[in-house]
Amino acid sequence: MTSSAAERWAAALARWRIPDEVATAPAATGFPVQRFADIADLSVTLDSPSRRIATAALPIGGSVLDVGCGAGAGSLALAPPAARLIGVDIQASMLEAFRERALARGATATGVLGPWQEVLDDLAGADVVVSHHTAYGTPELDQFGHALAAKARRRVVLELSAEHPTAWTRPYWQAIHGIEAPSGPTSDDAAEVLREAGIDVEVEHWEQAAPLPPESEEDQLRFLRTRLRVGEERDEELLDLLRDHPRPAWRHVTTLWWAVT
Ligand SMILES: C[S@@+](CC[C@H](N)C(=O)[O-])C[C@H]1O[C@@H](n2cnc3c(N)ncnc32)[C@H](O)[C@@H]1O
Repeated sequence: MTSSAAERWAAALARWRIPDEVATAPAATGFPVQRFADIADLSVTLDSPSRRIATAALPIGGSVLDVGCGAGAGSLALAPPAARLIGVDIQASMLEAFRERALARGATATGVLGPWQEVLDDLAGADVVVSHHTAYGTPELDQFGHALAAKARRRVVLELSAEHPTAWTRPYWQAIHGIEAPSGPTSDDAAEVLREAGIDVEVEHWEQAAPLPPESEEDQLRFLRTRLRVGEERDEELLDLLRDHPRPAWRHVTTLWWAVT
C-alpha cells in the first residue's frame, strides 16, 4: 500500500517518541525558555537566508506573524524593517521573553497564547508569516502550511534543521535503551509534504553561521533525561555518552518559503 508524503512525515515523527515499554520517566513537556532566549539573542546578530528571504518581502513598517515563536528567533531580526511583531506560542513564558525582546527592538509586540490550530483563525494577517524550528513538532505539516499561508499577505518562511533536531542522540538510544533510533524525516521530506499539499515551495539549504549558545552540563543532562525518558540514575552513562557524542554546536539548516498571491 502506498502512503502519502504527509502520512510518511507524521509516521516518521511518531517514531521519535521513546516507547513507553522502555521509558522510566515521563515524556518531555515544554521547551527551556533560557535556551530559546539565548538563540533568539544570537539571531539578531546573524545574517541568514531565512532573514534575507523574509526581509525581501517586507515593506518598511510592515508586520510579521511568528508562529511557535519561542523567544523570537524567527522574527526579532526582521524588525526593522518590520514595525509590528505578533508571536503565537503555547508557552506563556516564551511569549514573555518574545515580547520583551520585540519591544527592545523598537517594534510593537503582541503575544498570542495558544496552539496555532486554535488561535490562527481569529488573528489578522501579516505581511510575512514565519515559523522557525517547529516543523518537526508538527505531524500535520500540510495543514500547518496552509494555515500559515492563509495569514500571509506576501510570503511564508519556514526554517528547520536539515535533520530531526535530536538526530545527534541516535547513539544514545542504542546505549541507553538497546533500541535503534529512527532515521528520518528530513527537511527534504517536509518540502515534499508541502508540495504534495499544492504549495509551490522553494528550498535553500545552508549551514548555520555561528555556533549555538553553549549549555551547562546540568542543562544537557536535563535535556537528555527528558528526551530519553530516564531518571537521574542514568546520569553517569549519559555523561560518558556526552563525551563521546557531544551535542553539535553547528547545524545544517533549511529555509522553505513561498509567495502568497
Ligand atoms: C523548538 S521551539 C522553536 C522556537 C523558536 N521559533 C526558535 O526558532 O527559537 C518550538 C516552539 O513552538 C511552540 N509550540 C509547540 N507547539 C505549538 C503549537 N501547537 N502552537 C503554537 N506554538 C507551539 C513551543 O512552545 C516552542 O516555543
